[in-house]
Amino acid sequence: MTDNKDDKIADPPADQRKAARKYVPPPAIDLPDRLWPGRTIETSPVWCSVDLRDGNQALPNPLSAARKLEYFRLLCETGFKHIEVAFPSASQDDFDFTRSLVDAGHIPDDVFIMALTQCREKLIDRTFESLRGVPRGIVHAYCATSDLHMRQVFALTRDETLKMAVRSIGQIRDLAEANGASDLRLEFSPEEFTDTDIEFALEICEAVFEEWGRATSDRPLILNLPATVERRPPNHYADMIELFRRRFSQIDKVLVSVHSHNDQGMAIAATELALLAGAGRVEGALFGHGERTGNVDLVVMAANLESRGVDTGLDLTNIMKIAETVERLTGMPIPARQPYVGEYVFTAFSGSHQDAIRKGLHKLKESAELFGVGWKVPYLHIDPADLGRKYQRLIRINSQSGKGGIAWVLEQEYGIEAPKSMHPEIGAAVQKYSDKVAREISADEVHELFLSEFVNPAGPFELLGYWPRPDDDDPTHIHGEVRIRVNGEEKVVCAEGNGPISAFVHAMNQICDAEFTIEDYFEQAIGRGAEAQAMAYVPLELPGGKTRFGVGSDTNIDQAAVRAIVAGLNRIVRENGETD
Ligand code: KIV
Ligand code: ZN
Repeated sequence: MTDNKDDKIADPPADQRKAARKYVPPPAIDLPDRLWPGRTIETSPVWCSVDLRDGNQALPNPLSAARKLEYFRLLCETGFKHIEVAFPSASQDDFDFTRSLVDAGHIPDDVFIMALTQCREKLIDRTFESLRGVPRGIVHAYCATSDLHMRQVFALTRDETLKMAVRSIGQIRDLAEANGASDLRLEFSPEEFTDTDIEFALEICEAVFEEWGRATSDRPLILNLPATVERRPPNHYADMIELFRRRFSQIDKVLVSVHSHNDQGMAIAATELALLAGAGRVEGALFGHGERTGNVDLVVMAANLESRGVDTGLDLTNIMKIAETVERLTGMPIPARQPYVGEYVFTAFSGSHQDAIRKGLHKLKESAELFGVGWKVPYLHIDPADLGRKYQRLIRINSQSGKGGIAWVLEQEYGIEAPKSMHPEIGAAVQKYSDKVAREISADEVHELFLSEFVNPAGPFELLGYWPRPDDDDPTHIHGEVRIRVNGEEKVVCAEGNGPISAFVHAMNQICDAEFTIEDYFEQAIGRGAEAQAMAYVPLELPGGKTRFGVGSDTNIDQAAVRAIVAGLNRIVRENGETD
C-alpha cells in the first residue's frame, strides 16, 4: 500500500523553479537490460476496437443509434472480438445503445462487448444495468493515476485514488458474481499511465488484481496501460511495458493491453514497440478516430503486421468497403495519403517509380526465387490485391509519367501491347497532352489519346477499301486496287508489289508527297476465335531516319497493317503542317 510520503510531490527548489523551462524531455526509464529491441512481432495481439466509445466521443457529429449498429456490425464482420461499445453511465444514448445490443441479440457468440466506467459507485451500478443479461462482457473501469490528474483535476492523493479503485473493483466483482449467467470480465486502466510514476501504477494494478481475485490464465484480468496523451517517445512506452511486465507479481494471469493516442504522430510506432515489449492486446480505432489526434489506427496496425506475415485474424480483404462505410458513418473523410486505404497509396506518379513497378510486377516469379518470398516489388511493400485494391489503378498519368508507365497502363487496362520502339512516341504524345491540360490525366484519357493520335488521326487520307489479288502465275506478286479519299477527293490507285503490304506502300507512294518505306511491322491479336482483332503497329521510315508509327486494327492482319500505314501517313502530314 502507499505510504504517505508517496502522496507528496516535492516542490522544486526556488532557484530551479525560476529557471523552469517550458518543455523538458521526459525522464528515460531505467531499464539497461531491456529485451524488446531485439524481438520481432510474430503473433497477433487481441484487437479491441474503441471506435464506438473513444472514437465516437470525439466525432463532431456523434453516431446515431442506427449508425452505431451499422458500425458495430462492420466491426464484427471485420473480426473484432473485443468491442468497447459505450460509456453507458455517461449518456442516455450510450446506455440505450448498450441495452439494445443485448436486448435485440445483436452480439455474435464469440464477441465480448465492453462498457467503460469511472471508479464511482453510482456509475458502476448504471454500467451493470446497461449490461444486464449480456452473454459476454467486459467492464472497463478506469481512474486517473498521474500526479497531474489526481492533484489538479480530482484533488486526490495517491492513497485516496488507490482506495477508490479497490472499492470499485470490489463492487464490480460482487455485481459480476451476482450476474453469474454472464461471462463478465474486468479491464482496469490507470489513465495517463505513461505520465504515472511506474511504482504507483504497479501498486494500484496489484491492488486491483488482488481485489478482483478472479483472474486465471484462461480468464485473465485485462490491465490496459494507456498513453492517454502521447507525452513520451515510443521507446519509453516500450520500456514501461517491459518493466511493468517484469515487475508484476502474477503476470501469467494478466493480459497487458495498450491504448495509444497519436498526439505526436507516433501511436503506431508506440504500439508496435509495446507489442515487442510483451503487450498482448491493442485498443484503437479504425482509421484512428478518437480524442484530439485520435487513437492508434487499427487498420494500419493490422495491415502492417499482415505485411510482415502475421495473421491478425482481421479481414482487410475489402479495405475500401471498410473505409467507405466509416467515412459515411462518421462524416469524416480519409486523407488521400492514409496508409493502405488512401486514394494515392497504390499510385505511382513519377516515371521511374512506374517503370520499376512495371518491371517488378512482371518479375514476381524471379523475385520469389531470388528473395524467397511471395511478394517483393519495388515501391510496393504489400500486394494491393490482398486489400481488395487493383493493380490497374497503380499508375496514373501526369506530365511526370514515364513512357514505360504509360505503355503499362495501355497494356494492363486495354490490352494494347505497343512495341518498345513505339513507347517514346506514345510518351511524347501523352506528355504534350498533359502539359496542355496541366493536370493529372486518367487511364481512359490515355486510351482516347492513343486512339485519336495513332489509330484514327485526322488527316487528308481516308481509306475506303483495299483489294489485294495474288497474280495467277506468281501468287507472291500482288495486283491490287486501293480506293481512297485524299482531302475529300476519291481516288482509285493500282497497287503492285511483292506481298499485299509492299503493294499498298507502292500505291500510296504514288499519291502522297511523303516518301516512306516500311522495313518491319508488329502485330498482335486481341481476343480469341471469330471475335479476334488483329492490331498492327507499323513504323513508317522517312528520309533522314525519322520514324512515325501508325496503328490499325481489323479482323484481317493485312487490312490492319494498311490502316496503320494510312494512320501513320496522316500523322506525318499533320506534323509537317505543324512545323511549316
Ligand atoms: O485514453 C485513455 O486513457 C482512455 C481510457 C479511458 C482508457 O481512453
Ligand atoms: Zn483513449
